[in-house]
Amino acid sequence: MIIAEKKAIPIERELSKYCIDIPSLGISFQSDGNTNLLRSMMMSRHSGIAIGCRGGGCGICRIRVLKGEFASQPMSRQRISLHEEAAGVVLACRITPLSAMVVEPMPLDPAKPSPYHKAIG
Ligand code: FES
Repeated sequence: MIIAEKKAIPIERELSKYCIDIPSLGISFQSDGNTNLLRSMMMSRHSGIAIGCRGGGCGICRIRVLKGEFASQPMSRQRISLHEEAAGVVLACRITPLSAMVVEPMPLDPAKPSPYHKAIG
């Protein structure tokens, strides 16, 4: 089931560089406003968010958006529930930053945190 509609990125918007912060890991990287958040992280050679299929299928790149705007491609309800979506949880490989953002990696299974996940203190 599809949970998010893809938002059109305005054609007249010039490509910008947005700072993406992951404060609990002390990581920041840039996104060009035209590349999904996970790929932006990979291109900047950072590793704070777990990388899997890169296509919305595995759900391992789950993050919580704490601040910022983004365009979203469709995400499976099997990976992101309505409750999670309402809490700002998305797949990093399915969103494109449209502003500076602050995000937090989320474990796929809370009982088995990702090696990148650190508890927020
Ligand atoms: S990397 Fe698999 S859903 Fe994002």
